[in-house]
Amino acid sequence: MEASFSTATTSKGQYPRNNRKWIVFSGRSNVGKSSLINSLLAKKNLARTSSTPGRTQTINFYDVGDRWTFVDLPGYGFARAPLRIREQWGPMIEEFLQVADAVKLALLVVDVRHQPTAQDQLMRDYLREHQRTLEVVATKIDKISRNRRVRHLKTVQETLNVPRVVPYSATRGDGKRELWKIIREV
Ligand code: GTP
Ligand code: MG
Repeated sequence: MEASFSTATTSKGQYPRNNRKWIVFSGRSNVGKSSLINSLLAKKNLARTSSTPGRTQTINFYDVGDRWTFVDLPGYGFARAPLRIREQWGPMIEEFLQVADAVKLALLVVDVRHQPTAQDQLMRDYLREHQRTLEVVATKIDKISRNRRVRHLKTVQETLNVPRVVPYSATRGDGKRELWKIIREV
């Protein structure tokens, strides 16, 4: 899939104007949003990733093929982020979700190893309110055993109260087909 970086921004005046369908990647810091984007696009370093939470600090837009724009949001829930960053986050995301009519699909990304937090539930409510479709993606499934995976996926699904969860591994590519199918169908 052809993909290229478009824009990095913190305010709506700078969002790209295009006729693409926007697919938004949201979730806690460090769950693997940027890695998920790279994995879907089979690009190693298009979206910047880091083992240190708080890597993505702006809203980053990537044009994908001729139909989509992937939007990589900065993660939330990172207590050690600089105060300035934490204070910016709320208004920046809120503004984005309110004005971005182009968003056709919102992905809520969680780490399969951890029970979704109250902030994840808030984000789910937000995304449901503003976006057409919400899908939950549970990443890092390569990091736990098959048994635990089944149990944890159930916990994620129940805690977020969603009809399904897409299991994903950015390192192995599990879930890639299923997620592309979902993206193509929006
Ligand atoms: P912020 O930008 O801080 O919000 O983080 P992010 O959600 O974009 O996370 P990022 O993609 O930077 O990944 C965080 C860390 O998790 C990196 O060290 C990745 O290599 C690792 N990681 C992400 N996805 C996977 C996965 O599916 N499996 C494994 N084993 N590691 C992963
Ligand atoms: Mg990131």
